[in-house]
Order: sequence, then C-alpha cells, then structure tokens
Amino acid sequence: MCGIFGYVGSRRDAGTLVVEGLKNLEYRGYDSWGMAYKPNGSIVVRKDIGKISDVRSEDFGAPCSLAIAHTRWATHGGVTQCNAHPHLSCDGKIAVVHNGIVENYGPLRDALKTKGHTFLSQTDTEIIPHLIEEEMKNTADFAAAVRGAVRKLDGRFAVVAMHTDSQSLVAARNGSPLIIGAIKGATQGYCVASDIPAFLEHTRTVQYLDDGEMAVSDGRGILFSDIATGAERTKREIEITWSPEQARKGDFEHYMLKEIMEQKESVARAVNQNEEQILTLAKAIQEARGTFLVGCGTAGKACMAADYFFSVVAGKHVNYTPASEFKLYHRFLKPESLVIVVSQSGETADVLEAMRVAKSKGSKVLAVVNVEGSTIHRDADYTLLINAGPERAVASTKALTGQLAVLLLIAYALAGKLRDGRTVLLETAAEINDMLNPRYVERLKKLAEKLKDCRDLFIIGKGWNYPMALESAIKIQEVSYVHAEGFAGGELKHGPIALIEQGTPCIVLAGEDEVQQDILNNATELKARGAFIIGVAPRKHEVFDAWIKVPDAAAAQPIVNIIPIQVLSYFLAVSRGKNPDMPRNLAKSVTVK
Ligand code: M6R
Repeated sequence: MCGIFGYVGSRRDAGTLVVEGLKNLEYRGYDSWGMAYKPNGSIVVRKDIGKISDVRSEDFGAPCSLAIAHTRWATHGGVTQCNAHPHLSCDGKIAVVHNGIVENYGPLRDALKTKGHTFLSQTDTEIIPHLIEEEMKNTADFAAAVRGAVRKLDGRFAVVAMHTDSQSLVAARNGSPLIIGAIKGATQGYCVASDIPAFLEHTRTVQYLDDGEMAVSDGRGILFSDIATGAERTKREIEITWSPEQARKGDFEHYMLKEIMEQKESVARAVNQNEEQILTLAKAIQEARGTFLVGCGTAGKACMAADYFFSVVAGKHVNYTPASEFKLYHRFLKPESLVIVVSQSGETADVLEAMRVAKSKGSKVLAVVNVEGSTIHRDADYTLLINAGPERAVASTKALTGQLAVLLLIAYALAGKLRDGRTVLLETAAEINDMLNPRYVERLKKLAEKLKDCRDLFIIGKGWNYPMALESAIKIQEVSYVHAEGFAGGELKHGPIALIEQGTPCIVLAGEDEVQQDILNNATELKARGAFIIGVAPRKHEVFDAWIKVPDAAAAQPIVNIIPIQVLSYFLAVSRGKNPDMPRNLAKSVTVK
C-alpha cells in the first residue's frame, strides 16, 4: 500500500526518472500522487489526486539529481491534493514521503502544535517533516535529524526524506518495505523504492533494508545503520533474476490479462523445485506437532485448497486460518508446530503479524512466496519461491496457480509420491497451454457480455473446488464490482438458496472426483429454482445450461477450474467499462493491518 520511489545520483533528470519509476508502482495505490525535486536548489513539490499513469514525466525534466515520489492509498485523511505526499516542514526545506501508519501521530501532532508547527493536511505523515525540523534545531546533520525523528514514531513505516541544504537521500524502515537499487557505471546512483519493478529498468543489483534500519546516500555511496543505536550495518548486494521485460505490459491491454496468459508457463515454473528441498520440507511437516496454513485473500484461498490437498493426497490434517484471525490461535502453537504462510508480495501486514505470533511461540515458519527478498521471504525459517515473475495487476492470478502448484507438490511429497505430483502438475501445465487458446478466450468474452448486467452471481464448489468458488467470487467482485458470492454446494439449502430467482446465473465448479455427484445434485437444486447453470467441468452434464470445458486434472483440478473464471472476471470488468488493473478502493500489497 502506497508506493515510494526516490533517486540520488549523477543523472540530471531525477524528476523525470522518479515519475517514470513511480508509474511502475501504481499498483500499490492510485488515489493520488506526488513528487519533490530540487531543480534550482530549493524543493519544488508537485502533487495531485488521480493516477500517476496520467502524468507526463517530461514535465519534470528540469535538471536535478535528487528526487522523491509517492503514489498513495489513503489511510489517514481523504483523497485530496493536500493529503497527497510529499509533505513539507514549516520552512518548506524538508520533504517526506511515507508508507505505513504512524500510530502515535495524535500526541506527536499536539506536541508539535504547541511548539508552533502548523499542519496543512489530515495525514499522519505530515508530522514527520515537522519532527525532523524540530530535530534540526539541535543538529545540522540531516541524517541524524531523520534518525531522531523516526525513533519517536510508533507503528509501521517506510520513510524517504530530502532537505534543501543536503545532497543526501535518507530512507528509514520499520515494517513497510524499502529496497535499494544500486546503479553502477557512468550514471552511478541509488534508487530507493517500495518494490523492485520501480527501478528494474535501471538496475537488478539490490540491497534490502531491514526493520529498524536506515540508509543515507549522496549518490556516490550508501551508508546503512541501525536506527536505534546509529551503529553501521553492512549489507550484501543481491542480483535479482526478474527482467524489465517481465514487468512490462507488452502488447496486452491490461496486466491482468497478460498475467492470466502467463499461466501457460508459470505453473510449470512453480513445479520446478529442488527435489531435496521439497522432501526436507515434507519431513518437517510430517514431524510437526500442529501444521497451520495462513494467508490473506486469494493466497488464503490457496491455503484453504491445500487443506484439502494435504487431506486427500497425503492423509495429513492441517489447519487453515485467514492470517487476520491467526493471532487468536496462539494457544495451539508450540515450538514443534509449523506455520506455512503463503503470500504473493511477501509484505502483507496480517501475514507478517501471523509470523510474529508463530515466532513468539518458538514455532517454525515455512513461507511460500513470489517476491524473492520480500520481508516474509527473508524472515521465514524455510522458503519456497513460486517463480511466477512480477505480478502487477491488483487481482492475483498467476501467483494463485503457482501457490496451488507448490502446495500440491508438497502434499504429494508428504505422501511419498513426489514424482507422481510432478507428473500431474506438468501435465496440467501443458493442458493450460492448450486451454488458453484464442477461441477459448473469445467464448469466455462472449459469456461475460451476456452476464455483464446481472445483479448477482453465485459460484458453488465442493471439496477443493469450494475454496475456488470463494476465490471466483473475490475475482469477480474486485475487478467487475458485480455482486458475487461463493458457497460450498451443500450449504445452499441452509439459507442462500432463498436468493435464487428465475435466470440467476450460478457457476458450478466440478471435477471427475468423489464429490462430483454431490455438486451436480446441488446444481440441480439451483436449477429447479430457476437458476441459469454455468458448468466448469471436464465433461458436459445435463444440468448445465452453458458449459466451460476444462481438462480433467485429478488433484490439480482447482488450478484448471479457476483459470476460466479469471478470464471471465477480466472480461466482465472490461465489458462494464472498469479498469481491471486498478480496482477501486484496493491496492496490490496490503501493508496495513
Ligand atoms: O501479497 P499477498 O498474496 O499476501 O496478498 C494477499 C491478498 O491481499 C491478495 O491475494 C488479494 O486478495 C488480491 N487482491 C486478490 O486478487
């Protein structure tokens, strides 16, 4: 939530560079944007409501070599130009961008007011430049003043600050991500950003700032230190594998469609895991006393499906809990417990909180993540990467199928059938390649056209298709704003069936499995009340009014069943005139609790 990008270095187009980079972070928040630079020695701020993608980066071409920028997802204060970042100190000499929430901003603001500071916005962030300004009454060292200021903050933050009289960029982190990109060679410099795609065009050499750390750079070098003690820290430079091309939209109109299509390859990449590592992890799960699966939103639905994978494939009982509920389970955690956290971004606040709870009980954490070097990836005891490549659309698609593939592979390994698991999944990957052909996609587009004005849409599933019914609802809701709800097929007659009217569209997710007849019976019950039944299944059944064919994928059925729903959701959004990459009220990475 919120994207930050800063640059300092030998280039003289820092303003243009940060605005361009910020466009690559727009998925983190898009209600307003802002930037600060120093074209003539003093700080100039530009900010507005709306999307950074609508801004011309050439308009910030005035020569300068230090700039910061921010794209906002509002927490404190409405979406107004005034509340957009950067925020300034009273003297206008200090500019700050911030991601996170300052929990003690109320008392800090009151104290600053009594010292004569005036505030222009309703944000928690605005206290930070004023706190730095106060600190600068006791020191001329800007970095030391930032250190003094951020030490006073409670809560989660990533802060980047600049000063009129300093050529240094100062960054501090506690709980919200900040990554340094080191640009080598003739145009030497440093970028600091909330996520890697911001600077992927310029460098793949990164250094991760950890919680409680800060970085200071004048563009020629960088110094890392501990916020609390000031002690210097040494950081390893890491070369990341993502390429700038992977992060681009290419010829696709939206990232969401690009990422759906990438599943032709990404599922196979997810299966490409080190055999020994998977077997070690399977052993850890086997030996654990209590295994928990924890995630949020779509990643949570992958966990829920894995609950069925572990049970059906490996006969192993695990406990799925949404990350936001996990802390109430602390009583069941022991040092011998294992908590498997699943996250695309590796930065989700509720998942980080779940990890903290697990660690406080001495439990071990296995992270299944997409973003290498993310906080969750770095803080876990064991890790597995799903290798999906950058996922930019807010709606998670290829990350979900990658997560499902990795979790299913672990379930097979647990059952002592790792090779079989690999075969099932690689066959599924090949089937996905066949399935996502232009004719198939066109059929789903037509179906979306037909459904675009429906008031409600229901999706049912049973067994491992039940979490996919819930996931289908998330996908449809978040990008098209159609009211969609997912249910376990058997639950309908306990209440929700009252919502079915003549023509109500109901999607039925089925497979060639032991619960097939049950879900078809549920579909029949819906049809008897007038529902229009859209079957997603390997075979056409009599009860279906419309049929979306999917391969028979055995335990990988949830993977192939969700893909046509992703395509359908995409076209539902487009046919309703919505931008599926930037759904209202949402942000890609939820870094607040
Ligand atoms: O980065 P994470 O996988 O931890 O994110 C979890 C959820 O915020 C995410 O899946 C969200 O539900 C997506 N918008 C769903 O498409």
